[in-house]
Amino acid sequence: MFGAVLVLGLAGWITYEGDRSHYVTRQNIPREQPIPFSHAHHVGGEGFDCRYCHTSVETSSFAGIPPTETCMNCHSQIWRTSPILEPVRASYRTGQSIRWTRVHDLPDFVYFNHSIHVAKGVGCESCHGRVDRMPLMWEEASLRMEWCLNCHRHPEQYVRPRESITAMGYVPAGNQEEIGRRLMQEYHIQDARVLTSCSTCHR
Ligand code: HEC
Ligand code: HEC
Ligand code: HEC
Ligand code: HEC
Ligand code: HEC
Repeated sequence: MFGAVLVLGLAGWITYEGDRSHYVTRQNIPREQPIPFSHAHHVGGEGFDCRYCHTSVETSSFAGIPPTETCMNCHSQIWRTSPILEPVRASYRTGQSIRWTRVHDLPDFVYFNHSIHVAKGVGCESCHGRVDRMPLMWEEASLRMEWCLNCHRHPEQYVRPRESITAMGYVPAGNQEEIGRRLMQEYHIQDARVLTSCSTCHR
């Protein structure tokens, strides 16, 4: 009988762990793209701000993916004959948008909003990781409910000054918990009871 319980327990554990494995959540696996666009080069190397391309991140629920015109602002001048950029030029000529592979995709029954997080001092890095070191984009976080809840229970461990929202490799100027608590007051962040209530994310 003891053996049977052990086997059942083990089977349960395997299913549980398997369901949370990186294979299922696709965490940390770089995604193939129609053009090998590198955040490491554009953000890490050239220092372009996220908001130059993800223009709606502060004002809307979506961060937005830049249209071909944004690429051509620069690539009509630099690397203009490079074969690697031919799909960008083709898209510009034909007006057919580039079909980027989505990296992050929450289920439809979850409500998420970028602008509120950005307005309350949650940096891109806290959720997307060191984008400035990603040659191809991958998902840094699991995007599981427990991941959202972990921060919603203790936002003071993450919030930073709004000026540093897009900074990569941010280091708090002092004790994070103290700074976090002060910013939570300043930005009027609600308490954990509200932030972990089901209707916050399932509306
Ligand atoms: C020069 C334009 C440009 C800049 C600057 C830029 N991005 Fe991007 N970003 C893109 C493009 C194009 C894609 C779509 C291709 C891909 O996923 O790599 C993308 C995709 C992403 C994705 C994944 C989208 C998905 O499908 O889930 C995230 C997250 C992201 N960017 C975050 C950032 C952050 C954070 C910064 C600033 C640190 C930044 N980006 C700066 C152009 C840019
Ligand atoms: C603000 C200017 C600017 C914008 C906008 C821009 N790029 Fe670039 N891009 C550069 C520069 C500068 C380089 C050279 C980087 C290097 O050599 O490190 C580059 C290089 C590249 C390369 C060559 C390989 C590499 O990563 O070095 C590709 C591919 C590329 N860009 C694709 C894109 C795409 C696709 C977009 C639109 C989503 C885009 N770029 C938008 C400035 C820009
Ligand atoms: C609180 C966590 C969090 C923060 C902070 C955050 N993101 Fe996201 N981001 C997500 C999630 C979750 C998704 C997937 C959304 C979906 O599937 O509906 C996402 C998706 C994206 C996408 C894909 C397009 C879209 O809007 O769905 C881009 C681009 C992106 N984020 C860029 C950024 C940039 C740039 C910043 C900082 C200015 C940022 N994100 C801050 C969690 C975050
Ligand atoms: C790193 C911290 C962090 C992570 C991760 C995070 N959030 Fe948040 N979220 C916050 C903060 C801070 C606020 C602002 C709360 C406020 O204004 O009172 C917020 C606000 C929200 C709100 C608006 C709440 C309201 O009452 O208007 C929603 C919806 C939300 N988050 C959904 C999500 C979802 C879904 C995820 C996971 C996919 C997630 N968040 C991940 C920190 C985070
Ligand atoms: C901070 C945001 C947030 C809050 C608050 C939240 N959820 Fe979720 N929930 C998510 C996300 C994101 C997913 C999808 C990812 C996943 O399945 O883990 C999810 C998935 C689910 C699922 C689908 C089952 C599954 O594991 O796929 C159920 C059921 C659910 N939530 C119930 C609840 C209940 C009940 C509450 C209140 C006690 C709650 N949620 C509060 C973000 C949240």
